[in-house]
Amino acid sequence: MESRAFGLLPALLGALALCAPRASARTVRSFNDGWSLSKDGKTSAVTLPHDWAIAGPFDPSAPGGTGKLPWKGSGVYRRTLVLDGKPRGRVFLDFDGVMAHATVRVNGEPCGRGDYGYLGFRADATPYLMAGTNSVEVLCDTHDFSSRWYPGGGIYRNVWLVETDDVYLEDDRLAVATQNVLSGRPRVSVSGRIASRRLARADVDVSARVVDEDGKSIGGGTAAVSVDGYAEGGFSLSFTVENPCLWELEEPAALYRLEVTIAASGAADRLVRRIGFRDFRFDPEEGFVLNGRRVQLKGVDLHSDLGPLGMAFDRDAMRRQLSVMRDMGANALRTSHNCPAPEVLDLCDEMGIFVWDECFDKWNETCGRGDEPLESFVPRILAEWVRRDRNHPCVFAWSIGNEISPGKATPPGQEDQFSGRVAIGTSEERCARFRNAVRGEDATRPVAIGSCFGAAVVERGDYAMLDLTGWNYGGQYVNMKRRHPDKPVLYSESASALSEYGYYAPTSPTNKTDFAREARRVDSYDLNAAPWSDVPDHEFLRMERDRFCCGEFVWTGIDYLGEPYPYLGKNASDDSRSSYFGICDLCVLPKDRFYLYRSHWNKEAFTLHIAPGHWNFPEKAGGRLPVFVYTSADEAELFVNGRSLGRRRKDLSADASGDYYSVLSRYRLMWKDVAYEPGEVKAVAYGKGGEVLGTETLHTAGPPVRVVLAPERAYGSLRVFQVTLADADGRFVPGDARRVSFAAEGCEIVAVGNSDPRGYDSFKDVSSHPLCFGRAAVYVRTSGGRATLRASAEGLAEAVATVGPE
Ligand code: GAL
Repeated sequence: MESRAFGLLPALLGALALCAPRASARTVRSFNDGWSLSKDGKTSAVTLPHDWAIAGPFDPSAPGGTGKLPWKGSGVYRRTLVLDGKPRGRVFLDFDGVMAHATVRVNGEPCGRGDYGYLGFRADATPYLMAGTNSVEVLCDTHDFSSRWYPGGGIYRNVWLVETDDVYLEDDRLAVATQNVLSGRPRVSVSGRIASRRLARADVDVSARVVDEDGKSIGGGTAAVSVDGYAEGGFSLSFTVENPCLWELEEPAALYRLEVTIAASGAADRLVRRIGFRDFRFDPEEGFVLNGRRVQLKGVDLHSDLGPLGMAFDRDAMRRQLSVMRDMGANALRTSHNCPAPEVLDLCDEMGIFVWDECFDKWNETCGRGDEPLESFVPRILAEWVRRDRNHPCVFAWSIGNEISPGKATPPGQEDQFSGRVAIGTSEERCARFRNAVRGEDATRPVAIGSCFGAAVVERGDYAMLDLTGWNYGGQYVNMKRRHPDKPVLYSESASALSEYGYYAPTSPTNKTDFAREARRVDSYDLNAAPWSDVPDHEFLRMERDRFCCGEFVWTGIDYLGEPYPYLGKNASDDSRSSYFGICDLCVLPKDRFYLYRSHWNKEAFTLHIAPGHWNFPEKAGGRLPVFVYTSADEAELFVNGRSLGRRRKDLSADASGDYYSVLSRYRLMWKDVAYEPGEVKAVAYGKGGEVLGTETLHTAGPPVRVVLAPERAYGSLRVFQVTLADADGRFVPGDARRVSFAAEGCEIVAVGNSDPRGYDSFKDVSSHPLCFGRAAVYVRTSGGRATLRASAEGLAEAVATVGPE
């Protein structure tokens, strides 16, 4: 038997092999460059990932539900692949995601097909490749796709060129499961399948080592297994690891590198995965228990678009999103409502973020299944998705879908709103079948669903065969808890609160659906929510009270393109283009609400924020306005022009038994009726012993005299600059909507944007963009060297910001 190596190594330290494996024949290279796109009679050069619609133009008269952008259509991406000779082994093109339906041709021959835009697929180019120049063509079509938000169009995730020997390890057949983690001697089981048409026998040897962060060996194990009979198609083995570092919901999370290597009959292959050791359960009484402790899930729902970058996946921009969410105190992500880009899970593995991995929105309405029967399409896609994601330690639950309407409640023949097809919903039998499709690939995590359908569906037993249920809005998880006290529950969508950065209505809202309709805006005092949902404070209270519930996932952490409720649906040309639900705006810049969450969720950081976020209200002179303080402290004092308006403490007796807003004083410090006078407003936060923990001051600003550029920290090669205006004393000037022009040296501006859900300037016309309530964002790609961005506006001094070298 030949000797092969199987190593288990801490990823944080790099690859230290106990037994150096034979060089693998596998190469994996990016296949993103050198493409052209032919669409609508035009051909242009593009680099992947690419979203053909994000440059616009916006069509203000189009429905806002999918963002008023031209994502519907078809196009052909083309490039060449030059080979020195005929390939020795196998050549695959791995597409991580193409929206929405794709056909791949190599030298004119179809060799791969993608029929679910949110999940990748592999094209086997081997039989069609020749020595010399080969053509690769990808036809993408979104005509038959329907969506409740902006889905983008084209090859919007990475593409990889994978070359292997004829004998190779099939990527998605490698499954790693860890068990008995808390006993200190976790077992690791690995199973896989070797793809070969030729061999009748091969051997697999396994070796493993674990070292801690100081480079010391803290345990290890070896195992060897001989694999016979490829006809049966697989192998499995297990070994023990002593005292590994536990994977926790903190950054950086402890990851180990696992290599599976085979070598036989002149062929070699290696797969590398990062794995983590964690013990968890979803408990009907205690909620989510990780590594022996109850952990409150403080989660956000996120759609896949990256705001001004559109759907074109960008790992750096995704890390930025997750970092901002983490700073707010979030420890969990629901990939609403679809399979995320693979790198999202890599990031969550590294950053210690819990993932509720979700496969579908409505099964037949927006799941894009074409004409294939639901009963074959859904289990097929579920199985592919689980095989793709099952080795990630960050994934804790599989959600087979979101808000799938109850089957029998749909009158026969009734056409659904989106696709014009008959709606097909849940039933106990169907949920069980789809649960089994998931379990067939992974039995270590619960199979779940996200639902808003309340007591009747629970009573009918639709979810009885599922391991876990997620509930959207109104604390509806209690129905499940009552009917099935033995089943764990989670709050998969909470809040759906609404606000718009920088807008404070002349009269603040009197009830949650009192939107600033005349102005076509939504106020930013965090008093508004959709009729089916609640302001954050109600959800905080539920989570404090209902400890059996694993935690909440807020709809949404960040604004997204499409679904601009409450300006959606009545009359397309009156719709906005992007959401109001986000805690952060479309450019991931905070709204006031961000600080409300941070003050309650982030127990490690101090938060002190005043809402409204500025003190320039000339129209209020002589009038009154509310001032809210969002702080992690229990007590604060408010001063206007040096005069104290008194101290306030959080009222821990406040609950939801009074009027709708009575609960607010538990989480916010409120001065509801402050006489406005220009000057300054100051909040001072006090600790338990009366000591000053921090102060926050807002000044009335004078007219703007200059543009200000504030670079954020770098995320890889991505830098976002916030653009604002300042007065002669350097104070932030709110409310301005003027256009600012940009120029870059040593870097490339890749997108511009602001928080306006009714803004129709292209994100890709990067020469200029208007401010929205005095704020905009510029997304810059740097190459690591010195990079300078300039921002200018008529009549104002220019801003020049230089960053790097990194
Ligand atoms: C939920 C739905 C989400 C989003 C949200 C808005 O019912 O699952 O996708 O539409 O409502 O509040």
